[in-house]
Amino acid sequence: MTTHIVTGTQWGDEGKGKIVDILTEKMDVVCRYQGGNNAGHTIVVDGIKYDLHAIPSGIIRKNVISFIGNGVVLDPRQFIEESSKLLEKGIKVTPENLKISPRTAIIMDYHKVLDRCREDAKKGNKIGTTGRGIGPAYEDKISRIGIRAGDLLDKEILNRKIKAALKEKNALLVNLYSAEPFDAQELTDHYFELGKKLAPYIVDTDFSFAQFSSDKKVLMEGAQGALLDIDHGTYPFVTSSNTVSSYFGVGCGIPSSRTDDNIGLVKAYTTRVGAGPFPTEDEGHDGEELRRIGHEFGTTTGRPRRCGWLDTVALRYIFEMSSFTSIALTKLDVLNGFSKIKVCTGYRLDGRRINGFPASIESLERIEPEYIELDGWQSDISKIRDFDLLPENAKKYIKYIEETLKVPVSIVSVGPGREETIIRKEHISVF
Ligand code: GDP
Ligand code: IMO
Ligand code: MG
Repeated sequence: MTTHIVTGTQWGDEGKGKIVDILTEKMDVVCRYQGGNNAGHTIVVDGIKYDLHAIPSGIIRKNVISFIGNGVVLDPRQFIEESSKLLEKGIKVTPENLKISPRTAIIMDYHKVLDRCREDAKKGNKIGTTGRGIGPAYEDKISRIGIRAGDLLDKEILNRKIKAALKEKNALLVNLYSAEPFDAQELTDHYFELGKKLAPYIVDTDFSFAQFSSDKKVLMEGAQGALLDIDHGTYPFVTSSNTVSSYFGVGCGIPSSRTDDNIGLVKAYTTRVGAGPFPTEDEGHDGEELRRIGHEFGTTTGRPRRCGWLDTVALRYIFEMSSFTSIALTKLDVLNGFSKIKVCTGYRLDGRRINGFPASIESLERIEPEYIELDGWQSDISKIRDFDLLPENAKKYIKYIEETLKVPVSIVSVGPGREETIIRKEHISVF
């Protein structure tokens, strides 16, 4: 087996879908190992746009098997809807090209209702979740009252587990949130029917992903970004899974001791959807320009993304814990028109320079970033396919990032399309 990983190093939406699609040309298997349909991964091929949420981006390529790992939370109804939408665009999702682990946690209707009730109840400090039930589904998994994909296949087991879960859920919904309770039998009937549709995709319980992929080239498709990690991110303004690259082995059940490529995705500037600290956010003209030129609106919820400059303090913090073998630098073309490009090189707190990335959210909210300004290139780079042909100032920006993060850039993305990509083969093993 060879193992290749793609993860976001910021607050998500770095362009993982596109980069996964580029690498998938050389892969046998593409696996999602954490997160759920809170993710929105976009791929553009021959002008056709595909939005993937729960289904791995590998599905777009023929002869590639997509795998939904045990670390994922899966909403069966959404999965079926996403499959139908793909079919409308000529992409068939079949039990041959998509497999689901029986250990995958299931997002139930009560998780989605709870997610929204909680957000509504938080007056001033909403997290701004995607409302897809992600947090409540992971809570149940950790509390050991979750429903797993394999449970959907046996009506009796399913009913017993739903009844047990509803004892708490209904008490919360009715008494705390004044919401409607769920009926155990109705839910069982409904999810058992969904289970019948999912059954052909759910792999044999006794057959592990490690066995399945032992002779294959496997690409791990991370969702979200490292700064949204439940442990290492800007807690509590994070998602409910581990998004750092080191989680991949746990999230699908393969050894994580060796990776052939561990690619950290860095968007050439920074964005964030939802609430939480964002030291380099630019609420003025530059931020608006980045949003307009980069079309920074959420793939999942359509919300405008908050925008700002590259933050090398946050990136160094993530890179120190990640053992990346190379960087995929995305959306570099969005900076085409800027005469000056700002980069955050340090943090000040209460007037003093600090080292590292604060764990305390209260400190992060008060950070004053220190910037340097690099000269822009002010020309269109979207047609360039050869690294050497990039304008000098674009190369200087890339070199600055490489030197700061001590990892080489293997892929430069200069547009959303599959072909709008520069690959430096010397820094990546698959090409
Ligand atoms: P993901 O969640 O990391 O997969 O990223 P999203 O798909 O949510 O957001 C990235 C957006 O930028 C999508 O609309 C992509 O089509 C687009 N995109 C990806 N790479 C590039 C690039 O290099 N340049 C430009 N202009 N757009 C890009
Ligand atoms: P991709 O894979 C950007 C954010 C939400 C919210 C927080 C918690 O497309 O990069 P959740 O619904 O997960 O409980 O919401 O996390 N968030 C994302 N932001 N990209 C994503 O995924 C995200 N998935 C969740 O906006 O702030
Ligand atoms: Mg996205």
